[in-house]
Amino acid sequence: MPTPAAAPGAVPAERAAARARGLTKAYGTGETTVLALDAVDVDIARGRFTAVMGPSGSGKSTLMHCLAGLDTVSAGRVWLGGTEITGLRDRELTRLRRDRVGFMFQSFNLVPTLDALENITLPLDIAGRRPDRDWLDRVIDALGLRDRLKHRPAQLSGGQQQRVACARALASRPELIFADEPTGNLDSRAGLEVLGFLRDAVDRLGQTVVMVTHDPGAAAHSDLVLFLADGRIVDGMEHPTAESVLERMKRFDAIRGAYEGDGSAGAAAAAGDTARAAALPAERDPATSADGTGGATEEV
Ligand SMILES: Nc1ncnc2c1ncn2[C@@H]1O[C@H](COP(=O)(O)OP(=O)(O)O)[C@@H](O)[C@H]1O
Ligand SMILES: [Mg+2]
Repeated sequence: MPTPAAAPGAVPAERAAARARGLTKAYGTGETTVLALDAVDVDIARGRFTAVMGPSGSGKSTLMHCLAGLDTVSAGRVWLGGTEITGLRDRELTRLRRDRVGFMFQSFNLVPTLDALENITLPLDIAGRRPDRDWLDRVIDALGLRDRLKHRPAQLSGGQQQRVACARALASRPELIFADEPTGNLDSRAGLEVLGFLRDAVDRLGQTVVMVTHDPGAAAHSDLVLFLADGRIVDGMEHPTAESVLERMKRFDAIRGAYEGDGSAGAAAAAGDTARAAALPAERDPATSADGTGGATEEV
């Protein structure tokens, strides 16, 4: 087995909510093969908030999907809790995912014809499970959704919609929540709210959260940042601040610019244009590029 100690954030297997060894994911065949993940070893520690950062196309979403059992792997092994999911049959995998994992996406993925409460309990309803009323009440109150439960998504603001999506992810009290750029479509204030709730879910409710983001300010809410580049985890940072993450990203961009001819981001970093350097590798994010949330979020 590869040496777990070398991996940033490595923990003993029994403390991992999810982990992977030699996780490799290739798309396509022959000359068109894209190696999205290249023999990744990763541990997601239970009860922690882990952020995943990296340029667009570096494999962040693929990593999240493979860890969550939403996508198959080309090689390597993945565990959710103590259960190895690589090799599980579809039915078992579906059940495991349903019981242990919650998801949040950049586009909130709410059902427009259902009201907020119906959206929140939808995964439980599909699974034929009764919600734990006390838990659900706690989640709804923690997210400030009590007086919005009868509203449909179109009657809610973006931030409220993402809070509903957050409540939906939490409703089954999953061991692990995966959030792929959950603040990407939110203005900075609504983004901060959602980040605060994810932080609370870890601190007060004991959840484990993995969040993909390209906003240093959002990453600063996490306990550990894993940096991905070209399908590999190239670094980890404990107790991140927006400044330290931004500094780290600038160094990546400078290296990429110098050695890979990725001129735009490297040049921006070299010129000290931090906001542009931070925003460039990823999809445009109004929260980051418009008002420099990176600095603001760090104070909360
Ligand atoms: N379904 C797919 N088919 C082919 N290539 C894909 C697919 N999904 C992702 N990729 C490729 O895999 C690489 C990693 O993608 P992704 O994980 O989405 O990156 P990120 O989330 O960091 O932007 C990219 O080169 C992307 O083009
Ligand atoms: Mg992605």
